[in-house]
Parts: sequence; C-alpha cells; structure tokens
Amino acid sequence: MVKTTNPILFVLFFGLGLTHCTQTKDSRGLKELSDYPIGTAINLKSTLSDSKKLSLTVKEFSSLTAENNMKMFRILPSENEYNWDATDAVVAFAAENKMRLFGHALVWHSGTPKWVNDRIAIDSLWAQNFLNEYINTVVSKYQGKVAGWDVVNEPMETKGGKLRSTAWLNALGPDYIDQAFHAAHKADPNATLFLNDFNLERDPLKLEGFLDLVEQLQKNNVPISGIGFQMHYRMDIPDSLILKSLEKAANTGLKIHLSEVDLIFNTHDDSQAGGVQSYENFTPEMAQAQAAKYKNLVALYHKAVPKEQRYGITFWGFNDRDTWIKPFFKIKDWPTLFDEQLNPKEAYWGFREGLEENFN
Ligand code: XIL
Repeated sequence: MVKTTNPILFVLFFGLGLTHCTQTKDSRGLKELSDYPIGTAINLKSTLSDSKKLSLTVKEFSSLTAENNMKMFRILPSENEYNWDATDAVVAFAAENKMRLFGHALVWHSGTPKWVNDRIAIDSLWAQNFLNEYINTVVSKYQGKVAGWDVVNEPMETKGGKLRSTAWLNALGPDYIDQAFHAAHKADPNATLFLNDFNLERDPLKLEGFLDLVEQLQKNNVPISGIGFQMHYRMDIPDSLILKSLEKAANTGLKIHLSEVDLIFNTHDDSQAGGVQSYENFTPEMAQAQAAKYKNLVALYHKAVPKEQRYGITFWGFNDRDTWIKPFFKIKDWPTLFDEQLNPKEAYWGFREGLEENFN
C-alpha cells in the first residue's frame, strides 16, 4: 500500500517515468542540453586539485558562481586590504573556459566582515559611503567580466515577510537596498542585478514580503533585473507549491535564477548546525525519488518562467563530497547530482532527462 504522505513514496508513485537506468551514449554535457546556462558553485582551489572534478566542471556547466571567494569578508578582510587573488583566479578560469561568471554576493549580512559590522553600528554616514565605495570598487573592477550579481543576498528574515534586521538595515533603513542596486548599476550598466533569498519556494509569507519589496523597488526605478531563488530545498516540499511560487515571481517580468540548487532528504532548520537527521542511508528508492524530483524541477522552471526570463539553473556544488550541507548543518545527506566518488547519481540522469524533454 502506498502512503502518499511519505514524500519519497509519493514522488516514486507519481513521479514521471524515468528511463535513465541505462546510461546514455550521448557524450554531451548538461550545458549542451539547454538554451540557458547550467551552473555550479565553485571552490576553484579544490577544483584545480582534482582532475576529475575539473573535467566535470568544464564539461557539464556553462556558468560559475564562486561559493565563497567573492563574499565581502574574503575580498575585504580588513580595512583597505582588498584581496583580489582568489577572485581574479575565478574570473580568469571562467574566461578561459568560456563560462559565464555570476557574482555572489555584494551585500549580505552573513558575508559582512566583523570590522565592517562594528563600524556600521556606530557611524551611519560611514556605512553609506562605504556601501557605495565597496560596490563601485568591486563591480567596476570586473565590469564586463562578471555577467550578473547578487546585489543583496537574503534581505528577508528567515521566516515571515519582514526585512531582515541587519547592521545595514539598522544603519540606513530599507534604502540600503535601493542604494546598493544604484551603485552596482552605475559601476556596470550591463550587469544583470539580482535580489536573492532562500525558502521563497516554500514559505508563501516570505515570498509575499519579498515580492512586495521587489514591487517597491520597481516603482522607485531601482535597477533590479532579476530574482534569485536559492532553492536549497527538500524532498517533502510539494512541487505544486514550488510551481506557484515561481509563477508569482515570474509575474514581475524579471529574470528568474535558480541560484543555489540542492535537494535534501533530512531537515535543515536554516540555522548553522541545525539539522535533523531522519535518513541515515541513501537507498536505491531514495535515489530514484530524488531523480524524479530533479527531473521535475526543470519542468516546473519551464512551466512557470517564460523563456526570455530564464537566467539559468545553478547548483550549489555538484557532488556529495563537497556539498556545504553536511558541514554546515552537521547532517549526513545526498543533495547533489554526483556522489562522493564523483560518479553521476540517478539525480544526474533525472535532471538530464528533464532538460532533454523540456529543451525548446
Ligand atoms: C555557504 C557556503 O557554501 C559555505 O561554504 C559557507 O561556509 C557558508 O556559505 N546561501 C548563500 C550562500 O547565499 O552564500 C551560502 O554558501 C549558502 C546559503
């Protein structure tokens, strides 16, 4: 008897017929099966140290996001000490391999170094000048080399529809968001500028608050051009809810980026080390269910987002060895397309089938 309340059996039972048990002879990478970029987050040092990882990165993906190296605390760890080495290396790697480079992230509460947070808290005029100067410095340095930016990352509280109470909000009010977008646009008028957040696909209240913010920005002629759904999602988030959420976001007319995709079985409660371990082992049934859910993600994206608004699908790492999920939430899980030995999982074949069926 199939209990439809069990998310895994539900997907298995209702999942689209998957035919990927025998591997395809088609040697093309994922990026060749799509007319929008397919991306991955990258830790360049780790990629360059492993030839298999390197060849998969270049073969499968057409877009890169630095997993950590373009965050403020890496670029400017202390006052006046811009550190470009790692960033320059990613920029060069993307150019050499003809990949799109996506910038992540200019303003983010969790990426702001302590010395900046401390200053902001006591001097709002400094905060204002610094915000403009930092964004101008970084974005103009990479003008034409970084295609788009997460200008503000995670502007909303974890749950519900309110703006996140950050040092930036406390110092400058909601206008810090407008200012950040204006500064980025001035520094590179051709870059595609995003507001990015998590749980938008599953928390209707949060999505509503986020879309109110977007509407406000659009009304004020703030140069926002895209919405990023991080999509750190779970097997038990209903696809019907994801579809509705994507449709609402697409109604803004902005580009939609699935910007940090991974898909877990256990539960992250969105705080560091806050995971709940319900699944200890990755069974063949779970692998099939994950494949079906990844396959359907492509269908949902195509159904909800008109072709000209599809900015791409970016995975937050492509293998279960390097995934941030395990160290960050302190759980065991299997969130990505490739296993710990860098072999393609059923998830890979499912996602691939999704692209093949929906490619138009
Ligand atoms: C994560 C990285 O993957 C980890 O290596 C790091 O320890 C913490 O940040 N949302 C984001 C990303 O916007 O920047 C986060 O990346 C994952 C959640």
